[in-house]
Amino acid sequence: MPDTAPTVPHNVILIGFMGSGKSTVGREVASGLSFEFVDTDELIESRSGQTISQIFADKGESAFRDLESEVLASLAARSGLVISTGGGIILDPANRALLEKLGCIVWLDAPEDIIVERVTRNRKRPLVQTDDPRETVTRLLGQRRPLYSETAHLVVVTKGLEIHEIAHGIVESAQVHFSPDQS
Ligand code: S3P
Repeated sequence: MPDTAPTVPHNVILIGFMGSGKSTVGREVASGLSFEFVDTDELIESRSGQTISQIFADKGESAFRDLESEVLASLAARSGLVISTGGGIILDPANRALLEKLGCIVWLDAPEDIIVERVTRNRKRPLVQTDDPRETVTRLLGQRRPLYSETAHLVVVTKGLEIHEIAHGIVESAQVHFSPDQS
């Protein structure tokens, strides 16, 4: 067999807090790389027939986390994807190990003020439906930043950048990451 198969699957995985722009940026990165775009939250919703909010309300967060891990595991043999992940996917060490095997992991690090503004625009994120969403975001971000940081191959500090600038930088970095010399 010719020695041409990549040792790392060619996927780009976007991680980061709720409201950091993973889905919007991910769609543009997918189009730039001619990859397929998938979103773990959308896969969970289509497979369960329920919205994320309904799952949290009916079955609780831990049932949601089980579904999230199942969906991630189902992508393990795939290549050529841009995967936008839910902000809490990095909480489970098994998920982090799986992400590591899937490809190039990019952390979108957005400013806290922008996150708060985006996640309070609608009621789609059950974890921030609290009396004090800003305090909740600050607390969760404090817990999660070290996990995003240790999991990512690449960090994009999105402050002041347009979507197309973020996406363009990721496309270029992914092409380097996937070049034959790197695999
Ligand atoms: C969550 C983030 C959400 C969704 C769920 C839980 C989290 O996804 O998976 O509400 O724990 O941060 P987004 O990051 O796409 O908003």
